[in-house]
Amino acid sequence: MAINPPVDATQTPAWAALQKHYDELQAEGINLRKWFAEDPQRTEKLSFQAGDLYFDLSKNLIKPETLQLFANLAKDVKLDERIKQQYTGVHINNTEDRAVLHTALRRPVEDEGKYIVDGQDTVKDVHETLDRIYAFANKVRSGEWKGVTGKTIKTVVNIGIGGSDLGPNMAYEALKAYADAGISARYVSNIDPTDLAEKTKDLDPETTLFIIVSKTFTTLETLTNARCARTWLLGKLEAQGAIDGSDASKKDAVKKHFVAVSTALDKVEAFGIDPTNAFGFWNWVGGRYSVDSAVGTSLAVVLGPERFEDFLRGFHTIDEYFATTPFEKNVVALMGLLNVWYVNFFKAHSHAVLPYNQYLHRFPAYLQQLTMESNGKSVRWDGTPVTTETGEIFWGEPGTNGQHAFYQLIHQGTRLIPADFIAFVNTKNPTQDGDQDVHELFLGNFLAQTKALAFGKTADEVRADGETREDVIPARVFTGNRPTTSILGDDLTPYALGELIALYEHITLVEGTVWGLDSYDQWGVELGKVLAKQITPAISQDDDALAAQDQSTQGLIKFYRAHR
Ligand code: F6P
Repeated sequence: MAINPPVDATQTPAWAALQKHYDELQAEGINLRKWFAEDPQRTEKLSFQAGDLYFDLSKNLIKPETLQLFANLAKDVKLDERIKQQYTGVHINNTEDRAVLHTALRRPVEDEGKYIVDGQDTVKDVHETLDRIYAFANKVRSGEWKGVTGKTIKTVVNIGIGGSDLGPNMAYEALKAYADAGISARYVSNIDPTDLAEKTKDLDPETTLFIIVSKTFTTLETLTNARCARTWLLGKLEAQGAIDGSDASKKDAVKKHFVAVSTALDKVEAFGIDPTNAFGFWNWVGGRYSVDSAVGTSLAVVLGPERFEDFLRGFHTIDEYFATTPFEKNVVALMGLLNVWYVNFFKAHSHAVLPYNQYLHRFPAYLQQLTMESNGKSVRWDGTPVTTETGEIFWGEPGTNGQHAFYQLIHQGTRLIPADFIAFVNTKNPTQDGDQDVHELFLGNFLAQTKALAFGKTADEVRADGETREDVIPARVFTGNRPTTSILGDDLTPYALGELIALYEHITLVEGTVWGLDSYDQWGVELGKVLAKQITPAISQDDDALAAQDQSTQGLIKFYRAHR
C-alpha cells in the first residue's frame, strides 16, 4: 500500500488554534503558581496512568484545555492512520521501502497468524526466534553450554554499536539487580581499540562468550572488534595451553565462544560462527528499535527468559494503550505533542531526561539515538523540505548528579528546557543513614527540583529568607515556569523498563508524524562512513590519498604523522 504524502501540520486548523492559544497564554502571562492556585483540580486533570506508570503533566506550560488542542493536531495530521499503518506493516519507512514493526516483537503468541506482512507471519517468526534464544540462554545459564576447555560461561561480551549496543547496554545497566545466574555482561562498541582492550583485559577467555550483534553484519566498528576479539580469544587460549593452535582447535573455540545476532545470517556464517548459534531478526526492525529483538540476547542470558518475557510484556502494554486510547487522554501521544508544543511554539532546542534512579544512568544516551537518529531530519517522507523546526536534542544524567552540574542552567538560564523526571517508589538498595531512609532523601530531591522549576522563588521570598543586599537578590530569584513532566513507577522491573522504552519509541513516532518525517531511516550517518574509508589510507601510508584531502584534513594528518 502506497503511503500518502505527509500533512503539513503548520497549515492545519489545529496548528492555527494552538498558535492562538499560545499567543493568549503569553498575553495572559505564563504563571504556574497562578494556574495551580486558580484550579485545585489541575493536577488531577493533567495526570494519567498508562500501564503501571503514573504521569504528572501538571507542571507543564499548558492548561487542561490545551489537551484537546493537542488531540486536534493529532487528528489533523492523521496520527491514527500512521499508527495503524505502522502496526500493520505498511511500508512507512518510505526511503528504505520497509515496514516498521517493532511492535510485532512483543506481541503475545496468541497473535500468531494475525500480522502477516509481505507474506511473513511476523509474530510466529518472532516467537520461534525467542524460543531459540531462550533455549540458548538457558543452556548458558545452567552451565550446559561449555567453553572449549569445558568451563561454564561467566561473562558475555556483546559486540555491537548504535542500536546493537545502546539498547542492551542500557537495559543491562538498568536491570543488573536481576542478574541471578552468576553471569555478567560487558558491551564493546567503539572502534577505538581501547574499548575492547579495557573490557577484556581481566577476562578469562575460557569463561567468556562473545555475542556479535549487527543488523547488517557489515558495520566497520563491529566487524573490526569481532575480528580483534577472535584474535584475542585464540591468542589467549593458545598462550595458556587451552587449545593446540591447529585450525581445527581454533574452529572449535570460535564455535564455543562466539554467537551472533543479525538479519544477514549468510554473513554470520562467513565469519566462522556456527549458523545454529545465530539468532535472526528482520529488516522491519530498525536498529534503534531492536533491544527487544534478538539484539537483547545478552539480556536473556544474564536475566533469564522469564524476565525477558516480562520486559516484552511491558512494551506490549504501552503499545496497546497508545493504539487504543483517545488522543486527549492518551498520555503517550500527549507527551509527543507536548514536545512539539515546546519545539515549535516555545522554540525549545533541547529536552532533558533526568532519571532519579542510578540504574537508569545509560537511559539518556539510549534515548539520544532513539530520538535524534529518528527525528534529526530536514526533509519529509515524500522528499519535500520540512515546514517547521524538527528534532530537539535529548540529553541528561541521573539525578542528583545533574543537580550539581547543569541544573543551574535549567533553573536560571535563558533557554527553556523541558525536562522529564523519572523515579520509582521502591529501591533495590534500601539504606538507612541513622533515622533517614536514604531513598526517601533521594526522592525528596526529585520532588524539590520539579517544584523549584515550576514555582521558582520571588524577590520577596529571597528577602524574607534574610538576603539584605539588593544587588544580590536578582541572582537569587528563580523565575519558575520551567516545565517538567514527572513519571513515577512502583519499581524498576523488566516490565517497567519495557514500558518506559515503548513510551519514548511512540513519543518519537508522534513527533515524527507531526513533522512529516520518516523516523525510521538514518541516511545522515552514511556520508561519514564512506569518507572514513577514503581517508583512512591517507593517515599513515598513501601520499596521493593525502594530497586529495581538503587543507584542514591534510593539516590534521600532517600533525598525526609528525607525532606518531
Ligand atoms: O549509526 C547507523 C546505524 O545504522 C544505526 O542505525 C545502527 O543501530 C548502527 O548503525 C549499527 O548497525 P548494525 O546493527 O547493522 O551493525
